[in-house]
Amino acid sequence: MSTLEPNDGPSAASRAVCPGSFDPVTNGHLDIFGRASRLYDEVVVAVLVNQSKHGLFSHEERLDMLNQVTAHLPNVRIASFEGLLVDFCRTENISVVVKGLRAVTDFDYELKMAQMNFGLSGLETLFMPTNPLYSFLSSSLIKDVAKWGGDVSPHVPELVVARLSARLGDARRHTAS
Ligand code: PNS
Repeated sequence: MSTLEPNDGPSAASRAVCPGSFDPVTNGHLDIFGRASRLYDEVVVAVLVNQSKHGLFSHEERLDMLNQVTAHLPNVRIASFEGLLVDFCRTENISVVVKGLRAVTDFDYELKMAQMNFGLSGLETLFMPTNPLYSFLSSSLIKDVAKWGGDVSPHVPELVVARLSARLGDARRHTAS
């Protein structure tokens, strides 16, 4: 296991990553990106390319939505990664992962990943408590509610509401016919 040397200094922590699937991005994610962007010089939102898991939105659609909904945050950049997060961070010279914690139920899973990443390369993880406004939100819950015609507009950006309605509206029309 390698760890950061003390003389790597503060500049080593000036770029952070927020990794995830973002299928689709929610207001909870956006809140974390915005808060992280005030703490670091640059925040890279890294979308996992997952060949074995088909989401509701394609990888390109997720990147496009993320690019549009973070356009007001000048130091947030959207990127893709495949394989290990630690390898992506090494290539991009990123030394810290910022993750939102919604509730204790997130902690068990997140702690294991954080410990594994630290063990693999010394990559640090900082947990940011989710704003209570968003603590019950998840991409899967949003998709489930939207699938059955529920209103998700308080929980995701307008662009995402429109994309969900276009995608799931199509699916509902096909099911009904
Ligand atoms: O939004 P998600 O699906 O909960 O995000 C999980 C993600 C992408 C952060 C995690 O699965 C990940 O980092 N995958 C990359 C592969 C990897 O590095 N695995 C070891 C992590 S301990």
